[in-house]
Amino acid sequence: MFDKLIHQPDDPLLALIGLYRADARAGKVDLGVGVYRDEQGATPIFRAVKAAERRLVENQATKSYVGPEGDPVFVERLWELTAGAAGRERPTAGVQTPGGSGAVRLAADLLARMGVKRIWLGVPTWPNHPAIFKAAGLAIATHPYFDVPSQAILFDQMAEALKGANAGDAVLLHASCHNPSGGVLSSEQWTALSALIAERGLIPLIDSAYQGFGKGLDADSAGLRKVLAAVPEALVAVSCSKNFGLYRERTGAVYAVASSKDAAQSVRTNFVSIARANYSMPPDHGAAIVSEILGDEALKADWMAELETMRRRVASIRVKLAAGLSRRWQVLTAMAEQEGMFSLLPLEEADVLRLRHDHGIYMPGSARINIAGLKTAEVDAVVEKFLSL
Ligand SMILES: Cc1ncc(COP(=O)(O)O)c(C=O)c1O
Repeated sequence: MFDKLIHQPDDPLLALIGLYRADARAGKVDLGVGVYRDEQGATPIFRAVKAAERRLVENQATKSYVGPEGDPVFVERLWELTAGAAGRERPTAGVQTPGGSGAVRLAADLLARMGVKRIWLGVPTWPNHPAIFKAAGLAIATHPYFDVPSQAILFDQMAEALKGANAGDAVLLHASCHNPSGGVLSSEQWTALSALIAERGLIPLIDSAYQGFGKGLDADSAGLRKVLAAVPEALVAVSCSKNFGLYRERTGAVYAVASSKDAAQSVRTNFVSIARANYSMPPDHGAAIVSEILGDEALKADWMAELETMRRRVASIRVKLAAGLSRRWQVLTAMAEQEGMFSLLPLEEADVLRLRHDHGIYMPGSARINIAGLKTAEVDAVVEKFLSL
């Protein structure tokens, strides 16, 4: 019966990895895959992660099951990092998940179980967002978010579209470092959006996958914290893949801020039963590392320092690249104000293919680039290749 299945297209980003690997040219550049890279082109293991792993090897007493909710100490420490001190005062249910994707999926399944019919997604958004919500059985509505030709955030159109949402609809927000555009809301826009969400009775699901890669650890959660302060109920999905460099360890958590302790407890039991019927229990190793780091002042300070170095590297390449590319595409001066690893370039697919074939510069057809794929020394040469288009 397997032959009745329809062949599914390869994920374009994963397909790009294969093409990049097969390219034998020395000066090839990978601006595709969404992982941090350093000046040597490596995706390093944080010093604090290595140190925490050594401790775990020495001290871990068992490999017995962790339980569907994961480690409550990890869940609490990560919540404090995300929601700040104010987060502790709200009735909250949180469980450890397999990465940020697992967190978004658990939130989606919970929304479906609550009877929520529809979730609003910005255009553009991370391609896995619609896939996850569809898989959970939610209908998807879209609102404008970012205009590639003008590199502008379409806040007024976004607000206008959300005024058409029904009370009880969910709305997905990126906490910081928007993927794929890098375009983020101003503090005033977060305030206005929080008021709008509260007024319309929408339930926000905030996806926090890049905390520390934008303006800094606390600043990257400022918008999220504004929304939490304005609404009675919210969901937050957290990924530790990027900011702890734990991509393959599948580390994250999902949280629900509820209006009472009873409601929070009820959400917790639902998170647990959804997890149990899905993957049963989350993997332990990454969460044990994060918990060790966040619970130890010296390790935490070292982790923060290394993350800040990464953030500054990406920001400095971003400014250099924006200065170069804006010589040809004036709108790309805006790129310097965007944040995180990604930007969406105003290129036609033919330009993307020409860069790939003629110059070994790899990016997906959407022209989303991962700025961290560049080393400082190669920025000028790469800019010249773009300008030759
Ligand atoms: C916007 C967004 N949300 C969530 C994730 C989930 O990441 P992971 O499942 O690797 O933790 C990503 C990763 O690329 C992302 O870009």
